[in-house]
Amino acid sequence: MIRKLVESDLRAVEETYFNSFSADEASITFPVIKSLITDNTTDENYCLGFELDGKIVSAVGFSPVVFESDAEISAYILAPLATHKSHQKKGFATKLIEAAKSYFSENSVDALLVYGDPEYYGRYGFSVDIGKHFIPPYPLEYDFGWQALMLNKTELSNSQLNFTCVDALSDAALW
Ligand SMILES: CC(C)(COP(=O)(O)OP(=O)(O)OC[C@H]1O[C@@H](n2cnc3c(N)ncnc32)[C@H](O)[C@@H]1OP(=O)(O)O)[C@@H](O)C(=O)NCCC(=O)NCCS
Repeated sequence: MIRKLVESDLRAVEETYFNSFSADEASITFPVIKSLITDNTTDENYCLGFELDGKIVSAVGFSPVVFESDAEISAYILAPLATHKSHQKKGFATKLIEAAKSYFSENSVDALLVYGDPEYYGRYGFSVDIGKHFIPPYPLEYDFGWQALMLNKTELSNSQLNFTCVDALSDAALW
């Protein structure tokens, strides 16, 4: 079952992240999703989990970006994402991403952005070429991993859109 994540899921999400990421990666990514779930100052973050037998085993966070120009475009960053090792390759992450794509599309969000393996995110329609229109707020360690997905027919032409992100992602070590 897919549902929005709440504070009482944090333990299961932590277990999932420390189980699937390396300890070093989990100590960076878990605080991000924790912050997205617990930030009471906004209702804009969107965190989804896949619940199995009453427990979250896959979890993803989305947060809005703010464009520096008056660009008439809206976008969210997908980060972070993990599925518990015991439950990988069962399609749970795919279900979460597809559910989020439908949600954002229905809510007139124009684009989703992600920093990760193009081999993986390409299967959901993310593209490195489209990503080049969106300029992240920090230098990228692996620029080949920066990708975007348009949810509608918004024309990007030659635009280079600089943006800032939520506090939880405002850390150069994440980029
Ligand atoms: C990537 C991850 C979230 C996928 O979760 P999942 O629930 O197993 O995903 P799904 O079952 O929906 O899809 C799995 C498919 O993606 C493939 N896949 C997983 N990681 C991949 C990668 N880096 N590159 C290409 N394909 C990948 C699997 O081989 C599988 O393929 P199949 O459907 O042909 O068998 C999970 O492997 C994970 O938690 N990894 C560790 C954390 C991580 O890397 N997160 C992403 C950070 S950007």
